[in-house]
Amino acid sequence: MQLAHVIESFRADGKVAVVTGAGSGIGRASALALAGAGAIVVCADVDGQRAADTAAHIEASGGVGSSATVDVRHRSEVEALADRTKDDHGSLDVWCNIAGIMVEGPMVGTDEADLDRIIAVNLKGVHFGCQAAARIMTGQPAGGSIVNASSAAADAPSPNVSAYALCKAAVVQMTKSLAFEVGRRHVRVNAVAPGFVLTNMTGRYFVRPDGTVDEEMREAVLAPMRAHTPLRMIGEVEDIAAAVLYLASDASRFMTGQVLRPNGGVAMV
Ligand SMILES: NC(=O)c1ccc[n+]([C@@H]2O[C@H](COP(=O)([O-])OP(=O)(O)OC[C@H]3O[C@@H](n4cnc5c(N)ncnc54)[C@H](O)[C@@H]3O)[C@@H](O)[C@H]2O)c1
Repeated sequence: MQLAHVIESFRADGKVAVVTGAGSGIGRASALALAGAGAIVVCADVDGQRAADTAAHIEASGGVGSSATVDVRHRSEVEALADRTKDDHGSLDVWCNIAGIMVEGPMVGTDEADLDRIIAVNLKGVHFGCQAAARIMTGQPAGGSIVNASSAAADAPSPNVSAYALCKAAVVQMTKSLAFEVGRRHVRVNAVAPGFVLTNMTGRYFVRPDGTVDEEMREAVLAPMRAHTPLRMIGEVEDIAAAVLYLASDASRFMTGQVLRPNGGVAMV
């Protein structure tokens, strides 16, 4: 790559991108960032209304976005999303597996139904997304880029998230396996492993049932996290979206099978 092209390589003009989990939090921020960088973004979420809200936000900002109601637990829905995107737009250049859920509790107390529930979304859902995207991208001369959401929970043990952590560790492994398989077809596969950021998933620790925030509880949760983070800060969804955009764009064209860790330094691997 010539030096003059380095900065423009961070743009995503004309790329066709799918983001799962685009209705909220990191997925939403990633969809907005990709659209802001020039991508055509299909916002997919099991909550179709929220996905449509994100797409509307993209359009209102002058970007190109559409939405799809997709449950990543169902392979047929994920495959159909990939095919529809390629049919509608002519290519599938970026696929971000961001949809995820949390199941909490100690490992010894995790029941089978909860284990199945989180594996269905956080592990199999990502697997289905990887398969669907890779099937199409490997048939394109320009290949494509797949970005998976792992977590700092996969890097270091923390209390009550063992089922979540096992899925996020599996995401790292499947990222590497697929990267190895499809690299020669110009398809790159990388992951982001964020530290704690405030979203609907994490905000519930201090959001009351009526939607108001318990400020005292908020500080009780965030202060120790901040204190244990080398950068002494809590990340924001845009911090993760920036990493997703980098991995999606040609700026990372020499990277595959890697894990980027926007986590304030909480885990250094
Ligand atoms: N927030 C954090 O601190 C943090 C840290 C590390 C990793 N992550 C990961 O980042 C991703 C996004 O998390 P977030 O914090 O933005 O959560 P969030 O709850 O704000 O957003 C998750 C989105 O995924 C969607 N979703 C859930 N199940 C789905 C399904 N079956 N099919 C399609 N969509 C589905 C939800 O509707 C929601 O819009 C997750 O994979 C999460 O594990 C989050």
